Amino acid sequence: MFITLEGPEGSGKSSQIPALAQYLQEHGFDVLCTREPGGTSIGDQIREVLTSMDNPELLPRTEILLFLAARAQLVAQVIKPALLAGKVVLCDRYGDSTLAYQGYGHGLDLNSLRAMLNFATEGLKPDLTLLMDLDIKTGLARKKSIDEWNRLDAYELSFHERVRAGYLQLAEQEPERWQVVDAALPKDKVQTLLREIVLNRLQDKI
Ligand code: TYD
Repeated sequence: MFITLEGPEGSGKSSQIPALAQYLQEHGFDVLCTREPGGTSIGDQIREVLTSMDNPELLPRTEILLFLAARAQLVAQVIKPALLAGKVVLCDRYGDSTLAYQGYGHGLDLNSLRAMLNFATEGLKPDLTLLMDLDIKTGLARKKSIDEWNRLDAYELSFHERVRAGYLQLAEQEPERWQVVDAALPKDKVQTLLREIVLNRLQDKI
């Protein structure tokens, strides 16, 4: 089963994934965690270009092609083989980040993005997507406070507002795939909710 975590900046995805993975492992599932952009050696090199504060001239179109290049590599090299081996794959961001950030955020055409995504991933879609929803100001303040500021975080506030609203719209359009979690709740409460949702879904599948 392929599970993705999505959300605006500072929503806490990355800090929730290890505990969620451990919990699933304790329940007998073979779990593989990965993240975007990155997750492969080539993907990590692309991530450097994307997040470096030294690249302010990077254009939205260039940005999207780099995200997609990293994703194509990750799907073929890591995600598909893991799914074929019967693993649960937990991925920190995936195609919906492209729709939310490059589509809703930068205003690139959603249908063109969907076609490109389909090409990059050979049509691989998540079975379940967890949206960690959080208001933008809280999220950006959290990120700044832990010193993880990168080029993409530095976009203006209205960009991040469009990203958040875009995510909520995507979740509404495909309610059977998405589950929205309130990421403003205390960290352990968020973890409990994530565990319940994922375990229920995995047990449904067995
Ligand atoms: P990262 O430091 O991993 O942020 P986070 O911890 O919030 O996931 O940086 C990834 C950044 O890339 C983040 O700002 C979201 C952005 N992004 C896109 O704009 N499009 C995409 O397709 C992906 C995967 C990420």
